[in-house]
Amino acid sequence: MEYRHTPVLPAEVTKYLSLHPGSTIVDCTLGGAGHAKRIADSIAPTGTLVGIDQDDAALDAAAATLRLGRQITTIILKKGNFGDLDAVLAEAGIAYADGFLFDLGVSSPQLDQAERGFSYHDDAPLDMRMDPAGGAMSAADVVNTYSESELARIIGEYGEERWASRIAAFIVAARGRRPLQTTSDLVSVIKDAIPASARRSGPHPARRTFQALRIEVNGELEVLERGLRQAVRWLTTGGRVVVISYHSLEDRLVKKVFAELASGCECPPGLPMCTCGREPVVRIVTKRPVVPTTEEIERNPRSRSAKLRAAERV
Ligand SMILES: C[S@@+](CC[C@H](N)C(=O)[O-])C[C@H]1O[C@@H](n2cnc3c(N)ncnc32)[C@H](O)[C@@H]1O
Repeated sequence: MEYRHTPVLPAEVTKYLSLHPGSTIVDCTLGGAGHAKRIADSIAPTGTLVGIDQDDAALDAAAATLRLGRQITTIILKKGNFGDLDAVLAEAGIAYADGFLFDLGVSSPQLDQAERGFSYHDDAPLDMRMDPAGGAMSAADVVNTYSESELARIIGEYGEERWASRIAAFIVAARGRRPLQTTSDLVSVIKDAIPASARRSGPHPARRTFQALRIEVNGELEVLERGLRQAVRWLTTGGRVVVISYHSLEDRLVKKVFAELASGCECPPGLPMCTCGREPVVRIVTKRPVVPTTEEIERNPRSRSAKLRAAERV
């Protein structure tokens, strides 16, 4: 299948990564190599690009894209989770990096491949694992085994869904009759749970619950925090971490981790001298998140919720 994904904020990624010929850059979310291709060109001829993804289809597509005439840049592709960045980079054999890119979430082909179970528009098994071979639990396991209160918490917290408790109660009642196996099974339970008046406006009624389940199945927030903290340890002074997130929970987490790494002393106010000895690790480059222009959103509607933040190693 052709792998089509339009990179989001491409010029801004190049600018905020502050790319130079010879740089060593790690693209932690390679996808179809839309960003990686531009990075490889900007760091040629002596640069090194490490591309990581946990999805085999993405790695195959990226390998095909990057092979085209870019042999002058060293390219190392690794299957792995950016939550395990230390191990993946050690295996890649690099000693440091001048930049990291995290372009979070799923790619267009992952959303469009109905059988992956990410989309509420298609009927498919309730899977949602970004690494289907990885053996982690699927969305079906979550909806059929979690308690009602756990489901309500996940849907409320990760989906920011105001009808979370009702949806959880309806899921538990429905699975008592028959386990939920497909995306359509889940969509119809969600539609029953949300009152018709609330369903009439706004996005698809299943959008928030699907987002919540995807975050839970893939442990997205935990791995993001782990990945960011590991990335800054590999950065050279002046090296940058650039993150593009697509929903408020991720963006809030990125902002919080950057702020913590940029803050120095954590002693309680009023102490005569610092006792914690903490030094800032990064400088925040984007005081406010960078967002796509209206032209980009028109051209690529999937960019509409994107927020880019960057921090520089000090
Ligand atoms: C939005 S797409 C990236 C698109 C890419 N920047 C491009 O321009 O083609 C996100 C990619 O990151 C991968 N991904 C998401 N979370 C990951 C994780 N924790 N570890 C490794 N890869 C991950 C997904 O499989 C997907 O291919």
